[in-house]
Amino acid sequence: MKSLSSESKARLRSRSRFVHLGRDSEASYGFINLPAFRGSTVLFPDAATLKSNDQRFTYGTHGTPTTEALCEAWTALAGAAGTALVPTGMAAIALALLTALKAGDHLLMTDSAYQPARIFCNGMLKRMGVETTYYDPRLGAGIASLFRPDTKAVFVESPGSQSLEVQDIPAIAEVAHARGACVVADNTWATPLFFPPHANGVDLAVEAGTKYLSGHSDLLLGLVTANADWLKRLNRAARELAIPPGPEDVYLALRGLRTMELRLREAERQGLALAEWLRARPEALKVIHPALPDHPDHALWKRDFAGSSGLFSVVLKPVSAEAVAALLDGLELFGLGYSWGGYESLVIPFDCSRYRTATRWAPGGPALRFSVGLEDIDDLKDDLARGFERMKGAS
Ligand SMILES: Cc1ncc(COP(=O)(O)O)c(C=O)c1O
Repeated sequence: MKSLSSESKARLRSRSRFVHLGRDSEASYGFINLPAFRGSTVLFPDAATLKSNDQRFTYGTHGTPTTEALCEAWTALAGAAGTALVPTGMAAIALALLTALKAGDHLLMTDSAYQPARIFCNGMLKRMGVETTYYDPRLGAGIASLFRPDTKAVFVESPGSQSLEVQDIPAIAEVAHARGACVVADNTWATPLFFPPHANGVDLAVEAGTKYLSGHSDLLLGLVTANADWLKRLNRAARELAIPPGPEDVYLALRGLRTMELRLREAERQGLALAEWLRARPEALKVIHPALPDHPDHALWKRDFAGSSGLFSVVLKPVSAEAVAALLDGLELFGLGYSWGGYESLVIPFDCSRYRTATRWAPGGPALRFSVGLEDIDDLKDDLARGFERMKGAS
């Protein structure tokens, strides 16, 4: 089989891109998958090349054929100018913020951000002399009133972690760019398949590859893509930090990429089916899923997103903590655990009011976040129905 030319790759439709981008079977002796290149030292052919550093690979921290393949594929999928890889999604958030900010700058951070990102802002960024102001994710263009002369970056996450507010990213980007600020997005929920970040005004986009790219809950990985304006600065920060992911994780991520489109579309289908079933249950006060018409930001989601992943939340009618524990304890198919985006279903209880500062989280009952996997949807419903019986018994 011949390697696909870049023109042929550019012509591919979405589904084929996931299968073929970042692959060159000719270069891997006909084998389908590129191996996990391991290594620190890369040899140079002569003293002149060693001095000029003018060869494709120069040192393990600067990239290998395996990391290059993943970067090439992800760059194309995200509609970016380039990609940097780091060992976790949280490290990708840190890398993007360190690319965009320096001492003395001000950051506008959505109140709905993944909570450890707040820890980074309130800890390391603060110690570096960067001040963070948290804002209501639903501000849209109204964010203009929070800008100061020293505001150099706006961080968005849409939909927000756990509470799932959808943000008007194009409007926020317009305001930010008019003031010379960088727009950084955590795009993990949608992935570039459902929300192309750079086409929507994002300068630096973060993906926790730990979730849908991996898809099998067996690795941690972070990716940051940049548009043409920010690529040089992203590459510089990535080089300065020199924290590449391990080769095995990059190999597994490339393998995950091949089925990611398929898994995401199934997660969307399964997620919607379970969300609708839960909405009809008497125990549910509300289901928070951006693709459901009663979500407060549904119109915005419909305008900007091409689909939804399998992560959504449910607010139960008020019951005791013991009753919620009775629901959760004894679930056979839903695991209790953090992270998400794998092939298996998960659920966690959550309470955003513990850490929110710009908005009030008062949903009216205990809240649960579901990550719906690939099990038979009727088995998932049966597992939860038995859980609701246990909850009733403990109320
Ligand atoms: C929205 C979001 N962004 C980033 C991360 C961080 O990813 P990682 O676990 O790889 O650090 C997570 C992890 O749960 C997440 O939910």
